[in-house]
Amino acid sequence: PYTTLFRSPHSCPPSRRCFSMRHERCIAVPLGSCPFGTHPQAACAKRARPQWHVPPSVQEGNVPMKALVINGPNLNMLGIREPGIYGSDNYETLVQICQDAADELGFDGIEVFQSNHEGAIVDRIQEAYGSIDGIVINPAAYTHTSVAILDALKAVAIPSVEVHISAVEEREDFRQVSYAGMACFARVTGEGLSGYAHALEILASHLKEKQASI
Ligand code: DQA
Repeated sequence: PYTTLFRSPHSCPPSRRCFSMRHERCIAVPLGSCPFGTHPQAACAKRARPQWHVPPSVQEGNVPMKALVINGPNLNMLGIREPGIYGSDNYETLVQICQDAADELGFDGIEVFQSNHEGAIVDRIQEAYGSIDGIVINPAAYTHTSVAILDALKAVAIPSVEVHISAVEEREDFRQVSYAGMACFARVTGEGLSGYAHALEILASHLKEKQASI
């Protein structure tokens, strides 16, 4: 009888919403059909939930988790590029590491995206709105220059973890600023390619905790 939508509150049609005040998951029912009275009220979503249709992926503590890994410029050159800093494994190995980690951590899906273009990265972040639950991002050189990527991450407000292959904090002064990092809740550096698996682990725990607190 009830429509249950799991999406960002901003994309939920206002005429049909009965939403969690936490602004993390929007649980929508047709206006007027909420069994617990008027809208909007957090208690409504909380108390009504057990009676609603809940998609199988969120039953019994399973959290729907779709991850997006974003890699910035020159990371496609892994294996060739400065192996003393970034190692000898190539980009395909990095993709495999992310996919294996996502399987192990129980993500429902993962996309590993790479672009050498700032605008393409901004576009991919914007497209993630409403369909991706968490982001792991290595903006590479754009880490230190791109307010546009920072703004895109802030705009979609998807939980994000920053990752760097090298220990950026021990490198040149110009690498000490991270714009994207200002929109991320955690940072992994200096762990090589396996740092991506670590970042996905941090993201998975965060998404599970977030779901448990709703
Ligand atoms: C990097 C560090 C950046 O400073 C650099 O520009 C990169 C890679 C890393 O993963 O260590 O391209 O993000």
